[in-house]
Amino acid sequence: MKVFVTGANGLLGQHLIRQLVEEGKFAIHATGKGPSRLPYGQGNGVTYHELDITDFKQSQSLVEKLSPHIIIHAAAVTQPNDCAADKTTCWKTNVGATRTLIKAAQKTKSYFIYLSTDFVFDGTDGPYDEHAIPNPVNDYGESKLLAEEMVEMSGLHWAIVRTVLVYGGKVPGGRPNFIQWVKDKLTAGEKIKVVNDQFRTPTYVEDLAKGIILVLLKHAKGIYHISGKEMCTPYQLALLVANVLQADDSLIEQVTAETFKEPAKRPAKTGFIITKAVKELGYVPVKLEEGVKRVLGLA
Ligand SMILES: NC(=O)c1ccc[n+]([C@@H]2O[C@H](COP(=O)([O-])OP(=O)(O)OC[C@H]3O[C@@H](n4cnc5c(N)ncnc54)[C@H](OP(=O)(O)O)[C@@H]3O)[C@@H](O)[C@H]2O)c1
Repeated sequence: MKVFVTGANGLLGQHLIRQLVEEGKFAIHATGKGPSRLPYGQGNGVTYHELDITDFKQSQSLVEKLSPHIIIHAAAVTQPNDCAADKTTCWKTNVGATRTLIKAAQKTKSYFIYLSTDFVFDGTDGPYDEHAIPNPVNDYGESKLLAEEMVEMSGLHWAIVRTVLVYGGKVPGGRPNFIQWVKDKLTAGEKIKVVNDQFRTPTYVEDLAKGIILVLLKHAKGIYHISGKEMCTPYQLALLVANVLQADDSLIEQVTAETFKEPAKRPAKTGFIITKAVKELGYVPVKLEEGVKRVLGLA
């Protein structure tokens, strides 16, 4: 089976490609903006293609040339503040490029799996299941919701995998992750301020990759919420990191989201109810403490 992946250089992308390789049944076409940051040359069933998804012509012709059975569309402008700062790029990438990939998939009759976010919700009454009504509070959430709606109306065989606050080991060229940041600060004896009024169900990146592969193998259709099970605030997560490391947690000060003047508003309480994924896909996430230990290399 031929699988085409966008955003292969990203946090999810790099872990997903590795798990797809381990499955051993896919011809994998990994795509990313600029050179590959994957730890694979050609081989292992992986072929890397440089693809800026906002080059609509190139996107369309690559999909049509490869005619993949499955498209996993993970590339996006993923930072809400980046979307607020440059709405044009956000919409071109998150909406325009998705429209183009859908058009191409309609020609090749590919199964379309779209990665989306808890930020489609307003955060007034999380945790959310798949029937909850979206109501985004920032440009990022709006762009992802519009892309979701295009996927749903595409006439394709489709699945939307929504996820929440993904954490994992830092990948080459990736952003620094929260858990490592807390570790570095505590180890250096530095004080940190962490938000205690935003609630999420953090997702271990390996679980998310596994969840997507479960969706793919079942040829599942519809929306799936894939995240961890435990609800916590970033402050509570930082305390957990301190606890796991047996570090001094008095260095961690709890603050409200108001403390940081962010360009993009954040939903206060999201988090997911994952019953559907557990029942229909057999999805089982690790416990948060276990995930944190794995990221820190302690499990
Ligand atoms: N991380 C989270 O907490 C989270 C939560 C909810 C949903 N999601 C969703 O999950 C998916 C994967 O996110 P992630 O965590 O892996 O984020 P990520 O590490 O930021 O990866 C996103 C990837 O998209 C690529 N990209 C951006 N613009 C592109 C373009 N024009 N052409 C080609 N590639 C482009 C980026 O390339 P460069 O690396 O070269 O910039 C990056 O590799 C996204 O759809 C995101 O919306 C993530």
